Order: sequence, then structure tokens, then C-alpha cells
Amino acid sequence: MAATPNDDRERVREASPIEEVIGKYVDLVQRGRVWKGLCPFHDDGRPSMDVDPERNTFKCWSCNEGGDVFSFIQKFEKVDFREALTILADRANIELRPQFQDPQIQIQRDKDLEFLDRTATWFTQQLKTAEGRPALEYLKERGFSDSCIRRFRIGYAPPGWNSLESSIRQHVENSEDAIQRAVELGLLKSSAEGKTYDAFRDRIIFPIIRPGKGQYRESGEVIAFGGRHLGHPEAVSQGAANPPKYINSPESRVYSKGNLLYGFQQGQEEIRRRRHVVVCEGYTDVMMAHQHGVSNVVGVLGTALTTKSVQFISRAAQCVDLLFDGDSAGRRAAAKSCEHFLGTDVEVKVVLLEEGTDPCDLLASEGGKDRFQKLLKTGTASLNFLIGEILSLHGFSLGDAQPEVVSKTRRELSERVLMPLSEKGQVLLESGVREVARLTGWSESSILMDFQVDRKAQSERDSSRNRYKRTPSDSPSEFPGGSAHAPHFEQNRAPLGTSSLEDQNASVAVIDESVFNDSRSDLTLEPDIITSELFPNRSVDPAVIAECAMTEAAILKTILRDESCMRPMLRLAPVERWTSALHRDLGLLFQNKGKVPELLEIEDPDLKSLLLDLTSRNTRDDEFLDQDQKKNFASRTLAEYLMTALERKKDDFMRTEDKSALVTNINECINMLNNDKFSFSNTSQADEIINRFGLDQY
Ligand code: UTP
Ligand code: MN
Repeated sequence: MAATPNDDRERVREASPIEEVIGKYVDLVQRGRVWKGLCPFHDDGRPSMDVDPERNTFKCWSCNEGGDVFSFIQKFEKVDFREALTILADRANIELRPQFQDPQIQIQRDKDLEFLDRTATWFTQQLKTAEGRPALEYLKERGFSDSCIRRFRIGYAPPGWNSLESSIRQHVENSEDAIQRAVELGLLKSSAEGKTYDAFRDRIIFPIIRPGKGQYRESGEVIAFGGRHLGHPEAVSQGAANPPKYINSPESRVYSKGNLLYGFQQGQEEIRRRRHVVVCEGYTDVMMAHQHGVSNVVGVLGTALTTKSVQFISRAAQCVDLLFDGDSAGRRAAAKSCEHFLGTDVEVKVVLLEEGTDPCDLLASEGGKDRFQKLLKTGTASLNFLIGEILSLHGFSLGDAQPEVVSKTRRELSERVLMPLSEKGQVLLESGVREVARLTGWSESSILMDFQVDRKAQSERDSSRNRYKRTPSDSPSEFPGGSAHAPHFEQNRAPLGTSSLEDQNASVAVIDESVFNDSRSDLTLEPDIITSELFPNRSVDPAVIAECAMTEAAILKTILRDESCMRPMLRLAPVERWTSALHRDLGLLFQNKGKVPELLEIEDPDLKSLLLDLTSRNTRDDEFLDQDQKKNFASRTLAEYLMTALERKKDDFMRTEDKSALVTNINECINMLNNDKFSFSNTSQADEIINRFGLDQY
């Protein structure tokens, strides 16, 4: 089989120009020989993916993903090579040689699909019989039109135990095979004595249809069924006292639960056109929405969205409304679904239905379409919703200071919100921290610090997940619960860089003691070592440490704005003493190179993505600055750092008896900087000030 598949592969490759294929997924712009775009395999702040048509390759300089057109599809669509080949062959309208398809799997699949399609048709015929009349009437009563019933291929399973089975025996050649297949697909069940009987009895049948290929391109492929009992007690089928409202096909060769969106086949064009999906819970909701011309609605069938369907949706749409029941199960499912969207660039909103409201019945009522669309406008942004759900889960209310409530809530917020966001980069983490702060009233720095404690504990539990080797001083978690007291920055030296944008909210961090009581049993470092080695003249205060990490980021950002600030900046705040290992390593790299390195020169992916993060944060900060402010930002920051250092120096002088003339000189210098700071740009002047007043390490 060796020659043929290669042949096929090359035929498909030739028919799949890489910039065209990738361009369907990612916006690309041509830059000389290569095309550039945002890398879809990490949270990319600036276009770091190159697509090279000559070499037929792609490569991300930031996360290192790379390969050819097949591996792009494999990675993006999360499929194996064979499937990637099929996708590209389909796209290019190339018929793959049958030898290349795995014959056994392919043949079975085709037979399954054909059988399921025929069975769906048989169910629809039963809806038109006398036996099916109550079912049809029920559907009419709910307001479904004939064309909607046809469009969704709604059917009916008769009440008898062997209706489907005997029809198969009558109409299908080689019926033993077909019976066996029906069992495998969950349409027939086997009793203990080995007798088969119909799985769906006296139920309205909702075929589950997904987009298909070949002969199923138009109609889609039927891969499973859901069956609803008719709702009135006498229709509830024989035997079981309390049968479930719905029964659904089990998983099979062609159907795996969880990555299924009911109605996508029927709505896909509208979804692609509008880049907007509404997610509902039920079959009937989807149908009724489509009937009213709102066909960008899909159903998750009573569960939460899964990672896989979220990936699928993120490709098809830019905005998603999650329409869930307002009861606790619905809220839980909505929150779970939101979690899967964290860090994607899809704009997700949650709409909760009042108890007793059914989207299907709402739509079917007088003026229903308008009311439905108004309802969709009431959504809450997913991050806000998710945080709110976690707060109410723990009975947290604003201003509540119950220690256990606070600590449980904090931990859960760290795990379910901040952790996943932080994996997508600093910018997203910060947005999460801001939102948590807004909804809880806690300060941003205390949230960030607490998160770092949790992350540290997590990475120690699960060191294999964490590629970056973190040194002990990386997070404040080394500090024992015993020393914790509600810290106020005022009691400590202000950290460097109080002028930077990050520090605006840093004035007071009130930290609940309970924060320090958990997740530290596995920490082994002695606090004294940290104190003396890293902070010889600072009181050990976790809030200050968290603040230092922010300051370090601010220093790096300033250097990124203006390389010439590097030397004086790093003299004031020697990089060797930084608290965050990641920041420190990037700082060291700057220092060793004597300049800001090119992205290509950085090997470590964490350092690369930190550099990208910091750059994009500068860009974001720029939005708040006018032209002059932008130009002077770096030198102004340097001037402020110098002044802070000078103030400290002065404090130290004042504390000693030696109130020498130096104090006057320092004051003069501060005044000079203060008056001059918007145009201060002379870095050699900065060096000179550092020399004159001995400000190294201040
Ligand atoms: P609902 O109970 O909301 O059903 O469950 P529905 O589809 O809105 O039906 P009507 O409006 O009462 O006629 C939502 C979805 O959860 C799944 C089904 O997919 C259903 O559409 N479900 C529900 C089950 O799979 N099994 C059940 O027993 C109940
Ligand atoms: Mn319903």
C-alpha cells in the first residue's frame, strides 16, 4: 500500500496551497516571501506565525509549532493524518483512492450511516400512520409546522416491542446482518434470553444529524437518535413505572457523545454567515428557533458544552450566547460551558431563563420571536457569570468576611478562573484579576498574590505540567502562615516604580489571614533564608513580593520602550535580586546581551511568551497615553525611579545622625528631576546621579 498513499498525499498537497488553507483559519498578511498571522496554537498577541508557500511550511516563532499543510490541519482540527488528508482532499475535490482508506473501518461506517439513514426515514413514515397520530398531534399542539418536522426529519417509534425489528426482517436483505448492526447502534436491545426488541417504543424520534460528505452532503449524516415520550401518562410506554423523558442512542462507531451540536447541520450556513451561535439545551428549542427563522441556534442536549464542541464553535463563530435554564443544573452547565471558553477570543454571554420558561414555548407564543431576541440581549459576559456562580456557590456576598467562605471562594476562583486564564498569558490573567476584584471587592494585588500561592502549590503537585523551572523565590508562597497579618503597603517601603500604570491600585492590600492557612503544608523553605538572601532590608510581606513581581514587569516594559534606560534601571534594581524567576531570567537575558534580544534569539518558550506579553501590554497602555506621553513614558518612569531611590537614600540619612549636606543635594536633585521629568531623557545623567548618591541597588 506504500506507493499509492504517498501518491495521494502529494496530489492533495499540490492542490492545497498552504497559505490558502491556513488563510481559511487565520487572517494572513503577506510580508515579502512569507505570510504572517496570529498563531492559533497559543494565545498570540502579535503575528508570530510564518507561512512559507515556497517551502510549503508554517512555523510559529513564539510557541514553536510548525510543519506542513497536513500537520497544520492535524493540529488545528485535532485529527490524525488520515483524517487531515481526507479534509484536504474534500476541500480540493480530490477523490482519494479507495485503497488508501482503511477498508474495514470505511465499509462498516458506510453501512452504519446507510442503516441509520434508512431507519430515520422509517421513523418519519411511522409518524404518518394511525398509530403515529397522537405523536403528530402532540407536535402540532406544541406549534411545530410540517416543514419544520420534515426539515428535522422528526419521526415516531411505534409502541410495539418489535415494530422496528420486524420491519427490518421484512424489508432488508441479509437481515441477520442488519439486526446485528441495529443492536450495535443501540436501536435494538437484547434480552437476557438473547431475544431482541426495539429500544425506542412509543416515542417521538429526533434524529441527530451532522454535516456529511458525498451522498450525505445535502442531507447530513444521521448518527444517532433521541426519543421523547409523549408527555401524557397514558402514553408512557409499557412496563417501567417512571420512564425517562428522553432516551438516546448509545455511543457507536459513528457517534460519540459530547461533541455534538443538534441543529448545526441545518444552521451551519447561517452560523458561518453571522459568526454568531446561540446554544440551547433542548431538541425542541432548536427546532422552534429554526422554524422562526433564527437558525443560528444549536442544542447541547441537556449537558454542558465540551472542550471539543467549544473548539468547533470557536472556529465557526465569534459570538456565542449560552441560553440555559435558570435552575441549579442549568446554571452549573452554563458555568461549565463558560470555563471551556476561557481564554478563547470568542465573545460569550450567558442568558438564564426564568424558571418555567421554555425557549421552545416562548418562541411558539404570541410575539415569541421578538421576545426571544430581546431575551438574548440580556446576557451576562461569561467571565462575569462564571465568577458570580463561583461566589454564589460558596454563599459569598460582598463585604462578607467569614474566613472559611473567603478562603474557599478564593481557592476556587484561582483554580477555575485565574489558572486557566494565566495559561493563556499575562494579559488575560490580569483581566481575570480585575474582574474578580470588581465582583468581590478584594484588591487586585491580594488576588494576584493569592493566585500565585495556589499556582505554586499546584505546580508542586503537578511538576510535569510545568515546563518552566521555577525557583523558590518565584512566588510568595514560601512565607509561612504564622507571619501573616493584614499587611498595608504604607508600613513598608513603597516598591519601586510607583508611577507605572500597573501600580495604580496598589496602595492598600488587605489580605485575609485565612489565605495563608491552606495549601502550604508542602512548602519546605525556611522563611529566614528568603528574608535574608533576597530582601536584606525589607520586611517580609507577601503583598510586597507580589508587588515586586509587578514592578519587575514594569521595569522590563520600560526597557522595551527605550533600551537606553536599561543600564540605569538595572543599577537601581539589580536583576539578580528580582523575585519572579521568569522576570529575572528575561532581565538577565537583556543584561547579558546588553540590549533587548530579537524574539528569534530567545529559545525558552516561556521567556518568549513573556516578552510578547510585555510588548502587548505596552501597546495596551499606549491606548491611555497621548503622543507626548508615549514619547516620554520611559524617561519619565526612569526619573520617577530615580526619585524614589533618592527619597530612600534620604530616609536612610535622616535615620542616622549624619544629616550631612548630602540631604540638601538630594533634595535639589529630586526637584530637578521633578521639574524635568517629562523631558528627562539623558541616561548618562541618570548614571551620574546614581554614582553621585550611591544609588546602586536602591
Ligand atoms: P428538557 O427537559 O428541557 O427537554 O431537556 P426539551 O427538549 O426542552 O423538551 P420539552 O420542551 O419538554 O418537550 C433538554 C434536553 O436534555 C436532554 C434532551 O436532549 C433534551 O432535549 N434530555 C433531557 C435527555 O437526554 N434525557 C432526559 O431525560 C431529559
Ligand atoms: Mn423544553
